[in-house]
Amino acid sequence: MLLSGKYIIVTAGPTIEPIDPVRFLSNHSTGKMGYAIAGELARRGARVALVSGRTNLDTPAGTERVDVLSAEDMYRAVMERFPQADGAVMCAAVADYTPAEVSDTKIKKQDGDMVIRLKRTRDIAAEAGRVKGRRILVGFALETDHERENALGKLQRKNLDFIVLNSLRDAGAGFAGDTNKITVIDAAGKVSEYPLETKAAAAARIVDRMEEWFALHE
Ligand code: C5P
Repeated sequence: MLLSGKYIIVTAGPTIEPIDPVRFLSNHSTGKMGYAIAGELARRGARVALVSGRTNLDTPAGTERVDVLSAEDMYRAVMERFPQADGAVMCAAVADYTPAEVSDTKIKKQDGDMVIRLKRTRDIAAEAGRVKGRRILVGFALETDHERENALGKLQRKNLDFIVLNSLRDAGAGFAGDTNKITVIDAAGKVSEYPLETKAAAAARIVDRMEEWFALHE
């Protein structure tokens, strides 16, 4: 097994950005794609740290689950482990913005509208890309327009080896369902389009590509 002895971090699910003790900003990610990848990596012999936002999913067999809430928590959990890892798959839907101030007490309603100021979060994939060395780094892109151009831009900016593009335009692809239609772009710009298939099958394609990468980079 090519992946035995490899230590891979997988991020999955949404992040939760607190506004006050009872409210938060988040997104519709279910974590299914990341969990499928984590499970597949473990089945093929890798040691897997599954750094997960809040989901309703069972922990895949053979993975070490690390639960986090916010983008900042996820950043710390990943960067703590990254020096020991052989690579990472960044599948989480990480918030780009988080409330600039978090109230210690429940915010009371007032007459009129309210404004919540947001600040940028850290880009975990890009930070990992900066200190990547000989590790493999896989990212995801969910695009609504100029898909390939945008995905390729992200691959380069974040110093990824592969970017997996899921299009919101394809029926059956995206967040909630059990199927996905992925396109994988590698660092040389080679584009591989795969059919609409289960997330488990799409995960197996991605892990196949990772195995090929390790075979070439050993
Ligand atoms: O730039 P964008 O958010 O579209 O890039 C998506 C990719 O970057 C995904 O792999 C996602 O997990 C990762 N990402 C991250 N940290 C962020 C934002 C995105 O790791 N703060």
